[in-house]
Amino acid sequence: MADTLIIYYSSTGYNQRVAKLLAQKTGADLFEVQPVKAYDKNMWTAWDVAKEEREEGKLPALKTGVPAMSKYRRILFGGPSWGFTLANPLQSFLKQADFAGKPVYSWVTFYDHDENYLGDLKAQLHNGQVYGLLELTMGTLNDRQQLNRALDDWLEKID
Ligand SMILES: Cc1cc2nc3c(=O)[nH]c(=O)nc-3n(C[C@H](O)[C@H](O)[C@H](O)COP(=O)(O)O)c2cc1C
Repeated sequence: MADTLIIYYSSTGYNQRVAKLLAQKTGADLFEVQPVKAYDKNMWTAWDVAKEEREEGKLPALKTGVPAMSKYRRILFGGPSWGFTLANPLQSFLKQADFAGKPVYSWVTFYDHDENYLGDLKAQLHNGQVYGLLELTMGTLNDRQQLNRALDDWLEKID
């Protein structure tokens, strides 16, 4: 049985690629967070919607529930930076999830701004211990060798 659970959200595929690579490398189980209504693939169109949701305090409904985490030793948790912080579907997920006292190792994908991601993750995550943040920029994500190296280095460092 896998001892690691990977929880991720991906709108345009980058985080899905990262999650699948991590699963290949660790034998972990995968859990994809999916909103009921997918966001537009165009960043600015998606941002119009995501920004309004935040301003109105209405995070998106999810069509996926919450996985049982107690049977895993550790959780890997990742997704995109939206507006300097966690993408809205990840925030919806964190509201519902109990991390069962597990260690949580997180990654983020972004162009140039993720300043609030780690602090907000720590503040929003219930009952888990967050250890650091692997920051993956587009330069790394678009270079297969560089991405593999970054993931291998990270996996060596985390417990
Ligand atoms: C609604 C929205 C807001 C975004 N805001 C930021 C941002 O504040 N800073 C940044 O560097 N990238 C931002 N991006 C770019 C995303 O981080 C990038 O599209 C994402 O990491 C790609 O991951 P994915 O393919 O798994 O969805 C934003 C993208 C979207 C769709």
